[in-house]
Amino acid sequence: MDTQIIKVDKQNIDPNVIQQAGDIIKAGGLVAFPTETVYGLGGDALNPASSKKIYAAKGRPSDNPLIVHICCMEDLTPIVKEIPESAAKLAEAFWPGPLTLIFNKSDMVPYETTGGLDTVAVRMPVHPVAKAFIEAAGGYVAAPSANRSGRPSPTSAKYVAEDMTGRIEMILDSSDVEIGLESTIVDTTVEEPMILRPGYITREMLEEVLKSVGEDETMMTGDSKEAPKAPGMKYRHYAPKGDLTIVDGEERRVVEYINEQIQRLKKEGHKTGVIGTDGTIAEYCGDVCISAGDRKDEAAVARELYRILREFDDEGVTVIFSESFDMAGIGQAIMNRLLKAAGHKILHL
Ligand code: TXA
Ligand code: MG
Repeated sequence: MDTQIIKVDKQNIDPNVIQQAGDIIKAGGLVAFPTETVYGLGGDALNPASSKKIYAAKGRPSDNPLIVHICCMEDLTPIVKEIPESAAKLAEAFWPGPLTLIFNKSDMVPYETTGGLDTVAVRMPVHPVAKAFIEAAGGYVAAPSANRSGRPSPTSAKYVAEDMTGRIEMILDSSDVEIGLESTIVDTTVEEPMILRPGYITREMLEEVLKSVGEDETMMTGDSKEAPKAPGMKYRHYAPKGDLTIVDGEERRVVEYINEQIQRLKKEGHKTGVIGTDGTIAEYCGDVCISAGDRKDEAAVARELYRILREFDDEGVTVIFSESFDMAGIGQAIMNRLLKAAGHKILHL
C-alpha cells in the first residue's frame, strides 16, 4: 500500500486535505493524525472492519480496546448508555483536551472497537487538525497511538512514518506534539471515578472538579496480583530495544553509580546509553547520552521522553540507564511510562 504523507499547517488548515483524509476513513481506510498528546492511528469507530484493520496495522492484540475520538459534545450521547454526573463535570472542565473518559457503551459502538468490553473510552482532542479531521471523518474516529505495538508512541510524524509507511493510506503531518505522553484515562462508570492511566491532567486537577478520585492500584507497580483496569496497561508498552534500568537517589551517587556500570558494560562489548538531565548530562561516559532537559521542567521532560527512547533504538544501544524523576504534576505520568519501559527495574541507591 502507498502511504501518502501530507503536511498540514495547524494555523492554516487546508480543507481539501482534511476532506480527503475524512473520505478515506468513511471508505474504511486508515489515517494517522496529530493530537496534542501523541499521534493517533485513526479508523471509523463505528465500522468493525476498520477497527480490525487498526489492530492489524499496529500488530496489536485485539483485546486491547481503542479510544473513540469525537469533536463535539452532542456526539457523545449516541455512543454511551448514560452520562454520569462526574463525567459531565470532567468533560465540562477538561474537554477538548488530554482526558479520556470511560462510559458504558451504547449498541452503536461495535465490540471490535471496545475489545469486547461493554464500556467505551471517549476523548475530545483540542488539536485543531484532529478536530477538523474527526468532523470530516463523520464524527467518530477510533484511534490508538500511531506506533507499532511495543514501540514508544510517536510524538512527531517522522516516527509515524517509520512505523506505519506501507500499512495505512495517509499520514497528516503537523508539527511535533505539545504534551508528548498519552491522555489521562478516568473510568466514570464506577461509584468513585478512578484514574486508570496517569497523564497531563493530574489527580490534583481532577480533584478540583470532583470531591475525590481513586487510582488503579496497579498503575505504578510491577508486581500487583490484580490485572490493570485499562487492558492496554498490562502490556510492556513503550519498550526500547536496549535493557533499561532507572537509578534513583542523590544526584552525585547516581552519576557515579551509572558511570561505574557503564565502564564495566563497555568492556563486555555493550553499547551504552544514558537519560540524564541538563545539570548532569556532561558528566556521563555512556556512548549515547541524552538530556531530558531541565529536571524542574516536567512538561519538557514529558515531551522528550519517547523521542529519546526511539533514539536509543536507532543507535543500537543495548543497555540504558535513566535518572529518576519527581512524581509531582505530570511527573507521575513520566514515571509511569518510564517504569513500564524499564519493565519496573528501578534501583534505589
Ligand atoms: O492520548 C491518547 O489517549 C492517544 C491519542 C491518539 O488520543 N491514544 C492512545 O491510545 O493512547 P492507546 O490505544 O495507545 O491507549 C488506549 C488505552 C489502552 O491502555 C486501553 O486499554 C485503554 O485506553 N482503554 C480503551 N478503552 C477502554 C475501556 N473501555 N476500559 C478501560 N480501558 C480502556
Ligand atoms: Mg499506545
